[in-house]
Formats: sequence, structure tokens, C-alpha cells
Amino acid sequence: MTNKNLNRRHFLGTTGIATAGILAGAKPVQAADVPASGNKKVRIVAICGSHRKGKTTATALQMALDSAKTISPNIETELIELMDYKLEPAVPGGTAMDDYDKINAKITDPAVGGIIFGSPVYFSNMSSLMKMFIEHFGPYKKNGALSNKAAGVLTVAGARNGGQEAVGQSIMAALLGVEMIMVGDGRPTGHSGATLWNNSKDETTKDNITLDEFGCATAKGLGKRIAEVALRMSTKV
Ligand SMILES: Cc1cc2nc3c(=O)[nH]c(=O)nc-3n(C[C@H](O)[C@H](O)[C@H](O)COP(=O)(O)O)c2cc1C
Repeated sequence: MTNKNLNRRHFLGTTGIATAGILAGAKPVQAADVPASGNKKVRIVAICGSHRKGKTTATALQMALDSAKTISPNIETELIELMDYKLEPAVPGGTAMDDYDKINAKITDPAVGGIIFGSPVYFSNMSSLMKMFIEHFGPYKKNGALSNKAAGVLTVAGARNGGQEAVGQSIMAALLGVEMIMVGDGRPTGHSGATLWNNSKDETTKDNITLDEFGCATAKGLGKRIAEVALRMSTKV
């Protein structure tokens, strides 16, 4: 391929995200794309690792969950805000005197087919709360309690390129270690997860994540992909 072919215009053209708009051109996942799962309910859980409840990360996760529901009436959802729980550092072999058992019961429930992990970007990393949460996953490497559940990552940062993808990759690496099935944001945005930009400029735009059209599209796409894969994994073939 020549340099001419490698330029940005060519890339946008060949990937279908040219002048018609970045969100146009690709068919999003539709309800008709997934197999019917009878009356079996499949739950999608979103974990919010923000230190601020109900703010941009939680809002974006709820958007993803609402989008997941559009895939099938059999999809149920739940948003878990880690700030509602007391979490202590997990010591290998130790018994943490915290609330983790409550969250463990929710996420390892066989009815849960997919989990979305949402974190704000803090100093180019995931939040300490999300890290503390994931550090409780040691037993899953042996008991497989999260194995074959679909997983996706959603990250929110204050800068356009504030570390969203790096944080997503970091969370994904941990989830692959407990045998989760990673999914991205699917069509039409088509990247490795949901990446949002909290582009607050003043009091009128402060923490209004819905202003990030592309980021919201990645959140909605991720919700649909998680639902699609969770339904497929729950359907006996
Ligand atoms: C301690 C701290 C560190 C942050 N570090 C970054 C950063 O490295 N890059 C960035 O783009 N935004 C950074 N931000 C901005 C947040 O990622 C952003 O405001 C995000 O929307 C917060 O999520 P929330 O609304 O769920 O609290 C930081 C915010 C805080 C509080």
C-alpha cells in the first residue's frame, strides 16, 4: 500500500465513516441479529467505579444498560455503584471484612450473562475504587465464577484523549484473566469499548455527558453488544 493509500481520508472512506458522519454507514446490532432465548431472562450488570455517584460514569453506564434492553425483552439490567459498598484491600488468602460478598453474589449469579465495567479516568488510570473491586477477583481464577460471561469496558475522561483507551485496556487485561468474553462497542462505532469525553466548559455544560454524541454512541453500542453476546452464550446450541 502506498503512502497515498494510508492517509486519513482513505482510512475514513474505506471504513465507511467519511463525510456522511462518523455514526452513519454501518448497521447497528438489531434485535433480529440475536437468537430467541425463549422466556429465559438474561441479566446485564453495570459496575460503576466512579467516586461520584450518579455523575458521568453512572449516566453513561445507564445509557448502555438501557440500550442493552432494546435487544430483547428478556434482557434485565442492574446498575451497581461501588460507592454504595464498603470495600477494603483484598489480601490473598485473607478474609476481607467488607461488603464484597454482597457484590459477589450479584455478579456471579448464573442469570448474569454480561457485565459492563465503568471507570472514570483518574491520573491516566482506572479509579482506585474500580482497582480495589477487581483485586477481589482472585478466587474466580480457580472457581471460574465469571467464566464465559460477556464483559465490556466503559471509560470517561475530562480530556478528549485523557486516557480512556489505556484504562479500558487495563481493565480488559484483568477480565481476560478470569475468563470473561470481551466485547467492544460494535457497529457503528466499532472500537474496543465505550469511551466518553466529559467536555465540561462551564456551568451549563458541567457533567452533561449526553453532549458527547460519539461517546454516547459507543456506550449504546457496547450495551447492545453485551446483550447480544450474553444472549448467544445463554442459548444452548
Ligand atoms: C482525581 C481525578 C483525576 C483525574 N484524572 C484525569 C485524567 O488523567 N485524564 C482526564 O482526561 N481526566 C481526568 N479526570 C477527569 C475525570 O475523568 C472526569 O471528570 C470524569 O467525567 C469523572 O467521572 P464522574 O463524572 O463519574 O465522576 C480526573 C478527575 C479526578 C477527580
